[in-house]
Amino acid sequence: MIRERLEDILRERARLQTGDPQMEAAEAAPPAAAAPPAAEDPGAALRTEGLAVYYGHFQALRDVSLQVPGNRVTAIIGASGCGKSTLLRCFNRMNDAIPGFRLQGAVLFKGQDIYERGVDVVDVRRRIGMVFQKPNPFPKSIYENVAFGPRINGYEGRLDEIVERALRHAALWEEVKGKLRQGALTLSGGQQQRLCIARALAVEPEVILMDEPCSALDPVATLKIEDLMRELAKEYTIVIVTHNMQQAARVSDWTAVMMMAEDRAGEMVEFADTRSIFTNPRDKRTEDYITGRFG
Ligand SMILES: Nc1ncnc2c1ncn2[C@@H]1O[C@H](COP(=O)(O)OP(=O)(O)O)[C@@H](O)[C@H]1O
Ligand SMILES: [Mg+2]
Repeated sequence: MIRERLEDILRERARLQTGDPQMEAAEAAPPAAAAPPAAEDPGAALRTEGLAVYYGHFQALRDVSLQVPGNRVTAIIGASGCGKSTLLRCFNRMNDAIPGFRLQGAVLFKGQDIYERGVDVVDVRRRIGMVFQKPNPFPKSIYENVAFGPRINGYEGRLDEIVERALRHAALWEEVKGKLRQGALTLSGGQQQRLCIARALAVEPEVILMDEPCSALDPVATLKIEDLMRELAKEYTIVIVTHNMQQAARVSDWTAVMMMAEDRAGEMVEFADTRSIFTNPRDKRTEDYITGRFG
């Protein structure tokens, strides 16, 4: 049942991409990046090598080696508690402040280990932005939310233009252009989440990490954010955590499947292009997960 639904979604996507209503998913052209990333793929924006994460004595991630291709949407899926958010937060050092957090292995952004001594964490977080589950605009005006990052980063350009561009990029401009001085908290949940995306875009990042960005939104607002992700992938690298497999099938090019081992440490059981994950998984555990046998 679930599997058929996922295949429907993939077929619909292929049809939209090619414009051919007769196109069958199996015959559809694979996404542009269909070849699995090679061991040293220069197109990889982010890469982990043998990543292990501990919170105190608890091991939350074990041996995660993954390559996130640039200018694509990569989804991280898996049951609750398997370490999806932990992995996502490693990509821009958001775990640093958690007491007991310890990391082994490497996280590389364009070949540079972001956990190496001397790395400027503020710069890492500017280049690799994050959007959270619950929209969290500042209790300030719409304008000030977007202008905030450029201001503290000392941007020289014209702030009005930066704000407009970010809001346009986040597909929010038309809805708010007449009320930029209004409080951000007066917006709907979906608008607030697009405002948070605009806030992230305003400092000109290269990667946007999104941790279940739609889980607090209604279906219409969710589809808007999903369309936006597809659009943003033309210019940015997107990594999204979702426990919603339909969402992963709708928006992502690549999918990483995470699972909890017996000691509850999170492991990555499979990483492949999204079509393969949902139609032809190599790992039995992926198959069981996507057919709803557990998780
Ligand atoms: N700040 C933290 N301190 C201690 N343990 C944590 C913390 N955050 C997450 N964990 C634990 O790490 C594991 C993975 O959590 P998380 O990355 O949030 O998983 P997911 O996002 O897949 O639900 C869970 O067992 C969770 O309880
Ligand atoms: Mg999570």
